[in-house]
Formats: sequence, C-alpha cells, structure tokens
Amino acid sequence: MNYRRKIIAGNWKMHKTASESKNLVQDILSELKDWNEGDVVLCVPFTSLQTAGALLESQTVVELGAQNLHQAPQGAFTGEISAGMLRDLFVRYVIIGHSERRQYFGETNALINQKIKTALTSTLKPILCYGETLQERESNLWKSVLESQIKESLAGFTEAEMETVILAYEPVWAIGTGKTASPDQAQEAHAFSRTILTQLFGKAVADKTRIQYGGSVKPENAQELLQQQDIDGALVGGASLEARSFASLVKKGCQALA
Ligand code: PGA
Repeated sequence: MNYRRKIIAGNWKMHKTASESKNLVQDILSELKDWNEGDVVLCVPFTSLQTAGALLESQTVVELGAQNLHQAPQGAFTGEISAGMLRDLFVRYVIIGHSERRQYFGETNALINQKIKTALTSTLKPILCYGETLQERESNLWKSVLESQIKESLAGFTEAEMETVILAYEPVWAIGTGKTASPDQAQEAHAFSRTILTQLFGKAVADKTRIQYGGSVKPENAQELLQQQDIDGALVGGASLEARSFASLVKKGCQALA
C-alpha cells in the first residue's frame, strides 16, 4: 500500500464566469463539508480567482489553483499573469504545461521548465502535465515521449524543490474524449514515470512524488483508477464542472486504497 495522500484537482478550463463560479464553489463546499481524506484543489479561470479565493479562505477542505502563469516575475507582457499576482490572490497550486497549452499555444518542455522554476520561486505548487498523443501511443513511442517530457521539464531542479512538484499524466487521446486509459494502461505509464523520477532524483523523491491521472475521469471510473499502486490522484476537466459529480468523484477516488 502506498502512503501518498491523494490529490484531486478540478481543471475548469475556460468555463464559468465569476458569478457562475461563485455558485459552483459554494455547491462544491457544501457537498464536501468536513472532507479530510485527500487534498482537493479547484483550478478556476483567472477571472474567478478572487471570487473563489474569498469563499475558500475560511476553510481547509478545498484549496485554490490557477491554470497557467507567465515565466517572468513582471514586465511588458500584455495579457499575461505573473506568479506574484496569483500568490496575492491566495492561489496555492498552478497547472503547468497542460496539453492544450502545448498544442494551441506552442508551449515547449523548455518553457514549461522555466514556468515551473517561476512557480517554485513564488512558493506555488506546480502541477506538471505531460502525456502522449494517440499517434505516439499507436506507434509505440509513448515511453520515449514521456521520458523526454519529464526529463526536460524537470531539468535542474533539486530534491528539495521536488517536494512540492506534482505530476499529472494525461494521455492526450483521453482528454475530453470519453476514452479513458484502462487502469492497467494508466498504471503502466505511472510506474514508468516513477522510474524516470528515480533516475533523475533518486528513489526517496520518486516514492514521495504524487502523480495524478487525467483524461475523462468520472465518478464511475475514479475508484478503479485511483486504486492503482502508482496513481495518486486525478486532474479532472469535464466532471469537475458539476458539484455533485465532482464531490462524488473526490469521495470515491480518495477512498480508493492503492
Ligand atoms: P477531462 O479533462 O477530464 O475533461 O478529460 C482533463 C484535463 O484536461 O485536465
């Protein structure tokens, strides 16, 4: 049995206005009242951070996350958001390198590495996303893709810095498609990721690092996925936009004993 505390994060993507977010956060809080069997994070749009933060500051069940940041501390970068701006709104976590950012905004492993560095400097906990495309899986390239994504994104970090880094394995072919990796497929990729972490940082760090699975996680499949030995949580898109479904996923996922 592994001793890593489960962590479930909702990734709202570009959904919910600030007023809609207020209702959804309130509903999630009432569904998860007094919940303490895992870490729960809501990664809301930038425009909802202040509203969500105000609702979350008086409790400890749910923490606040953002979906991206700029790598520079400040400057002439029109339209961008810095780590300091996020910290000031009581953000604790930030998703970095989501496949949609890689695909639509050209984010590379080198840029993602810089963004993680910036997050760590500002004491934000980065959630590093990585994963292969369908074509890469079908041509049996997935291991080399994961290996270079992990190695290049985490190049140069110390063992101490790794204490706050969370990984999220998200096969691109499973995101928003309704196609989930089977528990065995997901476990195989997570175990492989942990061997790469062992090569980079040693076994103690690799054993402590939490690796979430993402890609069409729902209340119906959360338990089976999260009871795999190397799956320590979930990064949830679609199913995090409805309070009851998200709360049920959190409860089933966190109670799964791996
Ligand atoms: P999904 O998204 O749960 O809707 O597949 C997951 C993600 O993109 O993080």
